[in-house]
Amino acid sequence: METIYKRRSIRRYIEKEIAKEDLLKLVKAGMQAPSAHNQKPYEFIIVTKRKTLDKLSETGLYCHMLKYAHAAIVIISEANKEKTPYWQADCGAVAENILLEATDMKIGSCWIGEYPNKEKTDKVKEILQIPKDYEVFATISLGYTEQEKEPNNNYYEEKIHIEKF
Ligand SMILES: Cc1cc2nc3c(=O)[nH]c(=O)nc-3n(C[C@H](O)[C@H](O)[C@H](O)COP(=O)(O)O)c2cc1C
Repeated sequence: METIYKRRSIRRYIEKEIAKEDLLKLVKAGMQAPSAHNQKPYEFIIVTKRKTLDKLSETGLYCHMLKYAHAAIVIISEANKEKTPYWQADCGAVAENILLEATDMKIGSCWIGEYPNKEKTDKVKEILQIPKDYEVFATISLGYTEQEKEPNNNYYEEKIHIEKF
């Protein structure tokens, strides 16, 4: 699938808003991911307010791009580790689906790791008023880009074992 190979982390964005229906389309793509025992242990916070994006851009070292982003989707999970022990894998699949849908829609995106950086997620929780018993899994930074990045080649034959190690 061409979109998989086109996807790159985009951290520079142009001044162009993302339509609300496009943001909902991205979340819908996220929800289409597979989920262990079909528990779907995730929820989303869509952020578009400039002030909030600016605050989020100051929560850690590697999220400065939120200062220029036009939206962010924060993936959160109710931390019920017994009922949903695969919540991180589930949220990871959700995040990748969002990135691929964004690529297909020509919207630049970048995965910002949150969990398990408690110092960072505590700040995000405070800004977005997320209840204490939720985990913040990742933030997806979003914006249109002027220049698409070249696809990169991530194929390493030495990582593949056939039949046994
Ligand atoms: C779990 C995870 C956490 C990441 N966290 C960050 C982050 O905090 N800030 C950032 O700029 N990029 C982050 N990235 C993006 C990676 O840096 C990026 O995927 C990698 O450098 C490869 O580049 P590419 O996405 O353009 O192929 C993260 C990616 C993953 C999968």
